Amino acid sequence: MEPQADIGLIGLAVMGQNLALNIADNGHRVAVFNRSAERTRAFVDSPEAKGRPIIPTYDLAELVKAIKKPRAIIMMVKAGDPVDQQIDQLLPLIEPGDILVDGGNALYQDTIRRESALRQQGIRFIGTGISGGEEGARNGPSIMAGGEADALGRVAQIFEAIAAKVDDESCYAHIGSDGAGHFVKMMHNGIEYADMQLIAEAYALLKGPAALSHLEMRDIFASWNKGELDSYLIEITADILGKNDPETGRPMVEVILDRAGQKGTGGWAVRAALDYGSTAPTIAAAVEARTLSSMKTERVTAATRLGGPDPSQGLDHRTVIDQLELALLASKVCAYAQGFAVMDAAAAEHGWTLNKAEIASIWRGGCIIRARFLRHIRAAYQRDPKLPNLMLDPYFAELLERAQPAWRNIVTLGLQQGLPLPAFSSALAYYDGYRSATLPANLIQAQRDYFGAHTYERIDQEGTFHTDWSE
Ligand code: 6PG
Repeated sequence: MEPQADIGLIGLAVMGQNLALNIADNGHRVAVFNRSAERTRAFVDSPEAKGRPIIPTYDLAELVKAIKKPRAIIMMVKAGDPVDQQIDQLLPLIEPGDILVDGGNALYQDTIRRESALRQQGIRFIGTGISGGEEGARNGPSIMAGGEADALGRVAQIFEAIAAKVDDESCYAHIGSDGAGHFVKMMHNGIEYADMQLIAEAYALLKGPAALSHLEMRDIFASWNKGELDSYLIEITADILGKNDPETGRPMVEVILDRAGQKGTGGWAVRAALDYGSTAPTIAAAVEARTLSSMKTERVTAATRLGGPDPSQGLDHRTVIDQLELALLASKVCAYAQGFAVMDAAAAEHGWTLNKAEIASIWRGGCIIRARFLRHIRAAYQRDPKLPNLMLDPYFAELLERAQPAWRNIVTLGLQQGLPLPAFSSALAYYDGYRSATLPANLIQAQRDYFGAHTYERIDQEGTFHTDWSE
């Protein structure tokens, strides 16, 4: 039989299934394969898959045979070793010119290694970040592809078609060579962590100092979602706060244990900032806040031993709410500024030419951090593609200055109340640090020179200097 499928897909967990349905809906024949045949059977027999151009296959050779040449295969398997194993199993079956897409959350260094190894064998490897969760995969994710631009072949058209659309523009982009797509997806996730932590801190302030009910909080998030904060994460937070636990009747969020999980991509983003000499303090604060949250038992003990301030009374709720909206927006700008700055630093090291306006553009839809204000980020990088930091764009500089008084009040409120606001306060410190023409780093240099003769530079002469501090 002649090969029929335009593309193959391996891995029928929820993301893989939804992606296959999305590809089929866009008129492309997709051959699917899963390690367990039952899952493949159950999927192709499901009402969603029935009648769609989805071809089940039950071993890898059958899958490969079903795809038109040059073959394109998307792997939706768990990041890490499973990807290498999958590639090893496919290699004897595919041939030079074929395209392998890794659609998982791979570590970008792994993608660089795999791309290079496969290129030697004539296989085109496309490491692709796909964001949007289950719903995005089904109805339109944001797609960040990496690899040689001319290696994408027909995969580019398929990605273009299945991605989310905003104002008729597809949320798909070819980001750059080798690991660039997965790198940018990783920074997306870092920003996602920061966004989520900022929202969680806002919830803590509304619930604690502002003492609002869950329905009041839901309404506040819903109203914020109509303004500049309009975003997927604010929208789902309103939904979450409005939901009650069917078993106890309590707000659902209050029966959920306060111990946050993480699969590691946020931490990778922070490591990248360190590796490339950039800074991402708000992303780091978000990762660390999750880690601290996971120390539940220790925290419960410490709560009985370590004191804090007495919570103040008589706070003006309206003021807190209004100030919080501005503080959240300003902190969010800082988290994005950090994420884009890390991308710049990495791009310089890896020789990627990242189009930041395009990255902002494809994040406007489909992905978890989709937000209205990304259009302003796009505009900022369109105005100046070489902008050293997003905060320097006139739109954002004005926003940050306008938000400043409220932002400082919110951070102060947290300090006074003993309520931890690591993301809000790290964002503010980032802003204050970045706008400081002078920092106390001169003293650090003096200390380094004092104890280790590490030398220092002077403000008034060229060269490196050492002082004999004992004299
Ligand atoms: C996305 C998400 C997705 C995943 C996160 C969750 O863009 O669709 O980022 O990739 O939900 O990786 O990560 P944690 O489990 O670490 O929160």
